[in-house]
Amino acid sequence: MIIAANWKMHKTREETLEFLKEFVSRSGEIREGIQAVICPPFTFLYEAGEKQAEGNFRLGAQNMHWEKEGAFTGEVSPIMLEDAGVRYVVLGHSERRHVMGETDQVINRKMKVLADYNLAPIFCVGETEQERDEGRTGEVLKRQVRQGLQEVDLNVLQKMVIAYEPVWAIGTGRAAYPEDAREAAETIRRTLDEFDSDLGDKTNILYGGSVKEGNIAGFTTLPQIQGALVGGASLKPDSFIGLIKAAQEAG
Ligand code: 13P
Repeated sequence: MIIAANWKMHKTREETLEFLKEFVSRSGEIREGIQAVICPPFTFLYEAGEKQAEGNFRLGAQNMHWEKEGAFTGEVSPIMLEDAGVRYVVLGHSERRHVMGETDQVINRKMKVLADYNLAPIFCVGETEQERDEGRTGEVLKRQVRQGLQEVDLNVLQKMVIAYEPVWAIGTGRAAYPEDAREAAETIRRTLDEFDSDLGDKTNILYGGSVKEGNIAGFTTLPQIQGALVGGASLKPDSFIGLIKAAQEAG
């Protein structure tokens, strides 16, 4: 099971170090079989990366550019992430898609270059409220998967984690019903099979969107869901460890 913390644009350096200190000291509470991933803002990656050796977590980044280097003001390259000890990179998050205007094609370029790096993508997909109301959830998920993964190396697909994050559930306190997540995960898996016959059943799919201690088990106990991508409830060590424990206690 993978429980990933997406801190988005939150925390100072001091707050980051405080969080990691407490998280590392409580790492013993996390059972084997649970992989905690922490994705802080770029400026804290190096220091957080150094703490990986002490604590039971892997470092993730929230985004990256597809080029190794060049005239791309304001961007961060995959090689820089590797250098900082990053293992996972969130790609295609709904805030990148809908606030920063990233298209399926842009996300696809980023996915493609991962063949050259030791970074595993956490590839995010999910429908907006309007798309859901129009009954287009399945169609949108299929499009995001087909276009986002087009011509992506099989090695990348095999190390990829997918996060199903319905846009209307992110930061709203209104999580999806586990049944919705189950159905979405099934659609994603059958679309993945178009890339390789058993890719769908082998891929870890996380649910994201208003996950908290009280609802995480409803998702992680589904056979179709292998963990969670958490925003708001991952910002405090107590809360993040609390939801890891809730998931592990539910089995
Ligand atoms: P919240 O858990 O704050 O709803 O955010 C979910 C998310 O976008 C994680 O990537």
